[in-house]
Amino acid sequence: MSDRRYRVGIVGATGAVGSTILEVLAERDFPASEVVPFASERSAGKQVEFAGRGIEILPLSADTIQDVDLVLSSAGGSVSAEWAPRFADAGAVVVDNTSYWRMHDDVPLVVAGVNDDAAEEHRGIVANPNCTTMQMVVALKPIWDAARIERVVVSTYQSVSGTGRRAIEELRAQSRAVLEGEHPDPEVFPHQVAFNVIPQVETFSDGDDYTTEERKVMNETRKILGAGDELGVSSTCVRVPVVTGHSESVNVQTRDPLAPEECRELLAGRPGIVVVDAPQEGIYPLAIDAAGRDEVLVGRIRRDPSHERCLNLWVVGDNLRKGAATNAVQIAELLHERGLVRAAPQPVGAA
Ligand SMILES: NC(=O)c1ccc[n+]([C@@H]2O[C@H](COP(=O)([O-])OP(=O)(O)OC[C@H]3O[C@@H](n4cnc5c(N)ncnc54)[C@H](OP(=O)(O)O)[C@@H]3O)[C@@H](O)[C@H]2O)c1
Repeated sequence: MSDRRYRVGIVGATGAVGSTILEVLAERDFPASEVVPFASERSAGKQVEFAGRGIEILPLSADTIQDVDLVLSSAGGSVSAEWAPRFADAGAVVVDNTSYWRMHDDVPLVVAGVNDDAAEEHRGIVANPNCTTMQMVVALKPIWDAARIERVVVSTYQSVSGTGRRAIEELRAQSRAVLEGEHPDPEVFPHQVAFNVIPQVETFSDGDDYTTEERKVMNETRKILGAGDELGVSSTCVRVPVVTGHSESVNVQTRDPLAPEECRELLAGRPGIVVVDAPQEGIYPLAIDAAGRDEVLVGRIRRDPSHERCLNLWVVGDNLRKGAATNAVQIAELLHERGLVRAAPQPVGAA
């Protein structure tokens, strides 16, 4: 492994994901010679904290993006659409957290520990999957390898931090207001999220019956596992009044028989997975236990009584860590370890 150190740009450094990336980079002692935070014009000139000291936030411009080796970007799809290729053209490799590049054929979609080799094919941009998909695929991969999967039906219980900083503030303020007997108008979510459950994550576009989040889960799962239409995925994504940690009820139909005990053994001890499964004692994965951890917690592993080749699982992960920041930093580590932090010979979009 090289002893190279990198000038690392963090785009969206003030956001829920960006600020977690700064924490994770410092915790994991990533070989950064310098960290350069970027955010909108509103934040330019202010500071973010990295490894105990303040660093000035820069705006994105033709000048400020020069001489950056590696970029971890989470400032929304439209920012990535414009700036990820510009960074790549300027010689950087971009690990992008938004949905914009994920399904492009020439952009690898990588979950560290699941499909690391895909990163080898990058042309300047590597996409970090959707948080909901990420944690589910970590749990599915050992099952996919051992018994193949024919169909997955997932219902999610997603925390508000998945929508960013303003959404966390909305849940907190709304909870206080509702307890005081008020009914404030929602601003971030389509309905009151405090003391409620909303069967809509993101938006319904072009008359689709499924939300954009649900489509991401279906499409990204296949791309990461390298599966085609032979893998059926059906998802219902739901927002719940939890600050951090997405929970998922996952029904998995395998091609080959797999007993719950075998599944438990397959998952236990895998890097990045912790089996938490003693339901009779009230022990199963909880969002409040997953928050702040990098592992995906899996429990309630049991046979689906309606189908002999189906299992039910309860999968919980911290959407800001493995679901976003930790995986982005793990991809950066992978690029470093494999000598892949380099200008792409043929950038994304080049003829
Ligand atoms: N939250 C999650 O669990 C999660 C997981 C996976 C992926 N993602 C994706 O990551 C992205 C960010 O999510 P988030 O939850 O961190 O959102 P957030 O808390 O709202 O943060 C947004 C960040 O983007 C910056 N930004 C906004 N407009 C910009 C512009 N024109 N130029 C430069 N920077 C700009 C903001 O800077 P200012 O402070 O200056 O406004 C802020 O740093 C989204 O695309 C989201 O889909 C989120």
